[in-house]
Amino acid sequence: MTASRSDALVFFGATGDLAYKKIFPALQALIRHGDLDMPIIGMARSGWTLDKLRDRARDSLEENGGFDADAFAKLSAQLKYVDGDYGDPATYARLKQALGGTARPLHYLAIPPSMFGAVVRGLAKAGANHDARVIVEKPFGRDLASAQALNRTLHEVFEESAVFRIDHYLGKEAVQNLLYFRFANAFLDPIWNRHYVDNVQITMAESFGVQGRGAFYDEVGTLRDVVQNHMLQVIALLAMDAPTGRDPESVRLEKLRLFRAMRPLDPACVVRGQFRGYRDENGVAADSQVETFAALCLHIDTWRWSGVPFYIRTGKFLPVTATEVTVNLKCPPLAIFDAISPATSNYFRFRLSPEVVISAGVRVKQHGEEMRGEPVELIARHEPHSEELPYERLLRDAMRGDQSLFTRDDSVEAAWRVIDLALGTDTPVQEYERGSWGPPAAADIVVSDKGWHDPKPEETVPC
Ligand code: BG6
Repeated sequence: MTASRSDALVFFGATGDLAYKKIFPALQALIRHGDLDMPIIGMARSGWTLDKLRDRARDSLEENGGFDADAFAKLSAQLKYVDGDYGDPATYARLKQALGGTARPLHYLAIPPSMFGAVVRGLAKAGANHDARVIVEKPFGRDLASAQALNRTLHEVFEESAVFRIDHYLGKEAVQNLLYFRFANAFLDPIWNRHYVDNVQITMAESFGVQGRGAFYDEVGTLRDVVQNHMLQVIALLAMDAPTGRDPESVRLEKLRLFRAMRPLDPACVVRGQFRGYRDENGVAADSQVETFAALCLHIDTWRWSGVPFYIRTGKFLPVTATEVTVNLKCPPLAIFDAISPATSNYFRFRLSPEVVISAGVRVKQHGEEMRGEPVELIARHEPHSEELPYERLLRDAMRGDQSLFTRDDSVEAAWRVIDLALGTDTPVQEYERGSWGPPAAADIVVSDKGWHDPKPEETVPC
């Protein structure tokens, strides 16, 4: 593979849900910023025409991306469509024709992992893998064994330097700021360990359900959909040691070391929930045991983190839509003044979405003669939301051959190893009410009377 820029973008799954929600908006944004001056080839096996795909792109942008007439006109002009079965060589012959004189395509597999094998082999047989790069969507497999098999399949055709395993969380500004904030501030390192940190919590809450993705979701469930990837990546950035160099590999190496130090998740430390009515969703089995909620506790067996619980809670139909990390610090050893209330008065809070916030919780004295205090927040960053779309950033990086924000083969396997034991249905799935914080048993995951930190609607901060 050369480090030169890709000169065509091919996306498989062009008629699918991901393309509709995320890819078309990202393509429009890339065009607006002058970064996608190349043929864009949508691939699908839906029996569609190019005009139908253009209409779909327009609908997608109107609904999800802020339609821009000029950019859309360019997108329409650059867009091509190839329809056909992914197992049929004729499909790839048509793709080759559509690629015309281009020489370095970027193939984006926005399709279920079960089809990756057929597509990469089809690309290879047609010679469409030469000087090409490939982006593969998450979840990367269903468990450790299938992820290993997928890696083998990909490596039959592509070198690792040409493989881009996407996790759109890594393209989020707020997630990159975790890394920056930690290692661009020297004051954090002395306290970022088991001596000062009591526990770390990540809540990724969504107030909506499976949004018509029942068939996909019922194959996957929360642990595979967002824990193995988004949540573990966030923990890696929060807990890894400082990279030893500026090069992207240094960061990827420290993340790998961190994943390898995570203790395999004990199924007894997981609560799996299912919102009431999930089984009535289209595409969902009437007796589905798949979770739409998970709460769990992870441990990292290193000198830095030994004994510090890392809690994750995530699910559909929770009370709010927000993703928030709190790094809760230990209480002062003696309460010299008033009682410390709330108990977690010292913390760092990272709101990852929808707003972007970095803040520190501290106590200050209230006015008056008494030595009585109150909790306040020092706000380091507060933005309503991030401007750049994660998929825009990641597609641009992949076209340039920059793998910094993509997951390596060994890392993806190490992350599966962490949750592999908990993927079965040994832990029963417990029903929860829509709009609640999951099944009541989720409260018991946090082994202190301080409990879960519930993200609240963010207050507007005066400038
Ligand atoms: C996706 C999951 O990866 O991430 C979805 O498949 C989830 O179930 C989504 O809703 C959340 O990401 P974001 O960036 O929209 O908050």
